[in-house]
Amino acid sequence: MNVIALNGSPRRDGNTSIALNIMAEELQREGIATEIIHVGGLAVRGCTACNFCAASENNLCFFKDDGVNDIGLRMRAADGLIIGSPTYYGSIAGTLKCFLDRVFYSGGRSGAFRNKPAAAVAAVRRAGGVDVFNQLNNYFNLLEMVIPPSQYWAVAYGRDKGEVTGDAEGIQTLRRNANALAWLLKVLDAAKDTVPLPRVEQKIATNFIR
Ligand SMILES: Cc1cc2nc3c(=O)[nH]c(=O)nc-3n(C[C@H](O)[C@H](O)[C@H](O)COP(=O)(O)O)c2cc1C
Repeated sequence: MNVIALNGSPRRDGNTSIALNIMAEELQREGIATEIIHVGGLAVRGCTACNFCAASENNLCFFKDDGVNDIGLRMRAADGLIIGSPTYYGSIAGTLKCFLDRVFYSGGRSGAFRNKPAAAVAAVRRAGGVDVFNQLNNYFNLLEMVIPPSQYWAVAYGRDKGEVTGDAEGIQTLRRNANALAWLLKVLDAAKDTVPLPRVEQKIATNFIR
């Protein structure tokens, strides 16, 4: 089993990265290989709502050369995901937003994310971390993914690189979240031949028009 963890910060060795490494260590202790992919420094544009992905082969995005499709395919194939973001003006970082909108809009059409476990983590100096946590979980909820629990919202505090290691409760929350992710992956794996997946229905989309 494997997990892909996305670092949505442009700082490769900043607080988000440190948070993800702590979670990766816990997963690795549980025998689950975890790879951290840095997406916060990519030059990616946002979704243009062209809907090319609705009919394209493998539901890939029209814009092919910026890493979104390649990393998105690896995310689809992974057993589990972690997505980490710094808090920028009370929101997820802009590059990560562009990246995730495209990965999940195109990949969601393929059904590859349905029932896949995914955990969100936010790094924050002072305020807005829970907003970021919730924004990341919006993707998971809409894509019918499965979210592992922890003792608190997975938000770790720090401003300068490394400060997050001083947030003992935050680090414990992340560690327990990663441990629960490992547990969830093992439960789903153990049940895959005996418990059917949730039923999928033809979607009714009303756009709030009666
Ligand atoms: C453009 C920008 C906006 C920020 N906005 C917020 C904010 O709204 N709230 C906050 O508490 N910290 C804010 N911060 C601080 C970062 O969230 C904090 O330093 C975080 O630890 C950075 O994570 P990183 O080291 O992974 O990049 C902001 C930082 C930057 C660069």
